[in-house]
This record gives sequence, structure tokens and C-alpha cells, in this order.
Amino acid sequence: METTVASPQAKEAQDFMPINGTDYLELYVSNAKQAAHYYRSAFGFKALAYAGLETGVKDRESYVVVQDKIRLVLTSPLRSGTEIGRHIDKHGDGVKVTALWVDDATKAYEEAIKRGAKSFMEPNAMEDAHGKVVRSGIHTYGEVVHIFIERNDYNGIFLPGYKEWNTSYNPEPVGLKYVDHMVGNVELGQMNEWVKFYEEVMGFTQIMSFDDKDISTEYTALMSKVMSNGNGRIKFPINEPAPGLKKSQVDEYLEFYEGAGVQHIAVATDNIIQTVTDLKNRGVEFLQVPDTYYDVLSERVGEIDEDIDALRPLGILVDRDDEGYLLQIFTKTVQARPTMFFEIIQRKGATSFGKGNFKALFEALEREQELRGTL
Ligand code: FE2
Repeated sequence: METTVASPQAKEAQDFMPINGTDYLELYVSNAKQAAHYYRSAFGFKALAYAGLETGVKDRESYVVVQDKIRLVLTSPLRSGTEIGRHIDKHGDGVKVTALWVDDATKAYEEAIKRGAKSFMEPNAMEDAHGKVVRSGIHTYGEVVHIFIERNDYNGIFLPGYKEWNTSYNPEPVGLKYVDHMVGNVELGQMNEWVKFYEEVMGFTQIMSFDDKDISTEYTALMSKVMSNGNGRIKFPINEPAPGLKKSQVDEYLEFYEGAGVQHIAVATDNIIQTVTDLKNRGVEFLQVPDTYYDVLSERVGEIDEDIDALRPLGILVDRDDEGYLLQIFTKTVQARPTMFFEIIQRKGATSFGKGNFKALFEALEREQELRGTL
């Protein structure tokens, strides 16, 4: 994950918001206990920490699961009339918090606020016997928030207020390593607003863009711009729908999520064939492209290390850019509403996002939409 830049000094000077990586993602879900079981049994996450009635928290319950560098926090309310309950009623299950690991949460907050961010949480310190964590937070698109986490003086299990979650049920991991990128869907006409937000408020740069000529099928289209922080460890593509003959997948998301939100979380693996085999064996469902995709694959991407006959039955996709190639696959949506899903990605040099697969993928998505009657 090490990224070098041409001129470290120049980059350092302009990076007013250095970020070490994704700290955790918190999902508000209607049944955190069952969601935690799903992510452990199906996705190979391990039980890490718990907060709730047993730790003195009265209004909510949170389960934290981990796989290598990926931490998911699954939170449900314990009673009616809560903010979390309202969020779930409106959006269904979804990502509420993208927590970013920083060295100085107070400075990150002040820099962002100074540049126009809307405050979600003022800097505050939490302490327990294992040390101190400072947190602060700002709003981004929809009801999603970024929380800055400063944890250099902390060696507890997760955060103060959480206790270790001990369980004898610990399924094998499936080889998921870290969050590669996290994609947001925003309303028509809003993409450039949020691009500006990440540029001006967070010091990100736009590293790529796709328009409806790149990303369109007979029926649907979308536009996307990819924002990256200074060291490249945080990548946030932002999509907006483009007019098509029928309702696009982004429109469907916006309708069912009732607004902007996180569309997919891409997680990296070093061995996508093994990872996807394991996930499928555990019941994770993936979008399937037609078999003809593989008939022209070598022609399109050239020589690759993997045997195409091993990729074909799993439905793994391949794309190439100037720097190398990547393998990727997308799950079906993972909650009741047709909103959020996961991407599994293995990069072999490529730094892009699989543009060459968009058409085949969107046609697969449209087949799913058709079944739901929402195309
Ligand atoms: Fe992606």
C-alpha cells in the first residue's frame, strides 16, 4: 500500500490533511447481532469488540468485526425514538461513518471547518486504562460522516467504551486485506459539488473521471469522478446518475436509500480466486456476467498470470490500464434494500477501477433491476 510521490516535500506542504488510512466503517443496521454473524460467517471477519448494555451503553449495541486492516462496526438501537433508528427507518442498513485514521484529529477538524466543512462532532478525548483516543467529525454527502480518529496513544482493543468480544466461533478469514476504495452515489447535478468539497475541504485531488460515454449501456448511464488523498490510501469515487432510456442503477440506489450514500466498499485481496471461492462456498452472491465475456477476454486484456478457465466459473472480471491489470468482482446488494454492495479487488499493478468492465457489469446489474421491476 506504500505510495511514493514525485516530490515528497511539495506534496507534504500542500497536504494539510494527512490521513494514514481507513480506521473503520460503521454501518447502522436493523439487527447488529445478526449482521455481525453474517460478516463473520459469510465474509470471514473475526469478532473484535462489543459495546452495549454490558458496557454501560444504554441506547445502542455495537459489534466490531475485523479482517486484516478492515474494521466494520455494526450498530443497532436498543429502543425506539433514537437517531440511529430514524436513520435506519429512512435509509435501511447502510454506512453512517467512514472513520479516517489521522495523527491529529483536532488539526484535521480545524483545517476542514476552516475550509467550509459542516461539523458533526467537535474534537473530544476519550480515555480508559489503555490510553487516549481523540475524535472529531464532519459531514459529507447525504447523512454520511467522516470521523477523524487519533489513536497514537491508545493500545486497547478498539476504542474506549468497548470491551473485547470473546467467542468460540471464529470462522477462517477469506483473505480480505484493506479497504481499496469506497464509492458514494450522489443526486443528479451534485457530483461536482462533492468533488469540490473533497478538493477544497479535505485537500484531495481528482485522479480520474468517467462520463456517460465510458459508462453506458443501452438503458442506463452514470458519471463518476475519483477523489484521492495525498498519499493515495483513501480513494472515494463519486457517482451521479446520467440520463438514460430507463432508470439507472444510481437512480435506483437514490430512490431506495432515499438520498445520497455509500454505494460500495471495495476490499482488496492478494488471491482473488481463493477469496471468491471461499466467499461463494459461504453463500455470498455475486453479479454474473455472461459467459461470452470470457471468450474475448485475452484479446482485450492480453497476457495475465491467472488461468481464464479458473476465472470463468467464478465470474471474476479483468481489466488493464497503462500500469498493469486488476481482477474484480461485485457482490449482489447485501441488505433488504437494493442499495449497498461489496467489490472484491486484486490489483496487479493497475491503479484504475475497471472501466473496461463497466458495460458488462451494468448489463448484469440491469438484469437484477429487471427482476426487481425497477429498471
Ligand atoms: Fe469500485
